[in-house]
Amino acid sequence: MRKIHIVTFGCQMNKLDSELAAEALVDAGHMVVPDEHEADTVVFNTCSVRDHAEQRALSRLAGLRGRRLADPDFRLGIMGCFAEREGRELLRRLPYLDFALGTRQFPRIPEVLDELDSRPGDAAKAGRFGEAEEDFPGIGRAHPRGRRRGIQGFVSVMRGCGNHCSYCVVPNVRGGELSRRPEDIAAEVRALALAGTREVTLLGQNIDAYGKREGANLAALFRLIDSEAPPETGLVRIRFVTSHPRDITRELVEAVAALPRMCRHFHMPAQSGSDAVLARMRRGYHRAEYVAKLTMIREILPDSGIASDFIVGFPGETEEDFLATRDLVEKAAFRNCYIFKYSPRPGTPAARELADDVPDGEKKRRNRELLAVQNRVNRERGLRLVGNRLEVLAEGLSARDADRWTGRTGDNLICVFPAPPEGEDLTGRLIRLEVESATPLTLFCRRL
Ligand code: 5AD
Ligand code: SF4
Repeated sequence: MRKIHIVTFGCQMNKLDSELAAEALVDAGHMVVPDEHEADTVVFNTCSVRDHAEQRALSRLAGLRGRRLADPDFRLGIMGCFAEREGRELLRRLPYLDFALGTRQFPRIPEVLDELDSRPGDAAKAGRFGEAEEDFPGIGRAHPRGRRRGIQGFVSVMRGCGNHCSYCVVPNVRGGELSRRPEDIAAEVRALALAGTREVTLLGQNIDAYGKREGANLAALFRLIDSEAPPETGLVRIRFVTSHPRDITRELVEAVAALPRMCRHFHMPAQSGSDAVLARMRRGYHRAEYVAKLTMIREILPDSGIASDFIVGFPGETEEDFLATRDLVEKAAFRNCYIFKYSPRPGTPAARELADDVPDGEKKRRNRELLAVQNRVNRERGLRLVGNRLEVLAEGLSARDADRWTGRTGDNLICVFPAPPEGEDLTGRLIRLEVESATPLTLFCRRL
């Protein structure tokens, strides 16, 4: 039996994968420990979306080099996107790295640990990469057991991505689109709900494409989940990410509107507000079409929150292109914006064909400027909300303040409120709050 600690970088899909890896390890008789110092095995679940994410993983790995070299029984491994992209090479290059598991192989982690333990000496290495079988639990269509714990849980509805945005490494490292069966997804959501999950987030890199090749459909999946995991199971909220502006349909938004437990929140990355840049990014829509989708969502659900991602400093992005993006952020009133500096990724069309010609200082400036605009949008919204009444799912103690709790509204506003008296556990309960004051990212509330 090993004591394993998993460190997660990257997106929600990676968080889910870490949970699934933990589930596989526990099933095999190992222990997953929250403290790195207690562990005899440390695994980094890595991200490749930007160079910076890879560098962080490498430096954290190197930080454990001394411990690994001093202790022949200690094991160090990587999984996730960077492991898929560079795992073979890293196993060769880093004497202190014992194993690497690609994005569709990580449930094999118990098998790999056994393999290492069965080999003499401490120089053994193990790697698993590439496709898994279609029915591989957690990765392929089959469903994992749904034994994960916590009031918030993730469920993947599909794996991989069938788009080919020119900057993105995801199709290379996570493979093509593969949708799971609706009945398996609904059964997993139900199992999680019965085990105490109150809010489930359905995950797909491009969730609107769910079931396209298999003849399934996301709106129908929402309805199936709604009936298979009814309120009596304890499930109070259903979220879903990430929407592609080209693929999100009126039918889908109407399905959300018709189901009260579906959160009125959309994550629909625009990436740029300039048609010239969108074309080079191969996003498959123009700015006007993006704006039309925003309008469509808000017509059907006027009170919904819509979040977006932007990349600044994409190859050839002129000041004029940037101003078009800034203008979109000023006008769109996003619930939130995630802004990234372009990072060329090996193996992507943009890295092959387009020079990374916006200097880093300029990328930083554009990044700061967009953040400042979004900050203003958030501050103004916060002020408007003072005095309003909201409903949040109570999550627990605030990370910043031991006297306060935190929770989010369905449309993804972050609220803090005074901690309940000792003995009253609000975790996972829906509670009513009134907004008293606001900063750009946080609403300070009192309980009603
Ligand atoms: N450089 C910078 N940001 C990127 N993203 C994806 N690929 C890159 C890249 N090469 C951003 C996109 C995406 C988010 C997850 O990361 O905005 O929506
Ligand atoms: Fe998630 Fe993309 Fe990072 Fe992989 S590369 S962890 S899919 S954000």
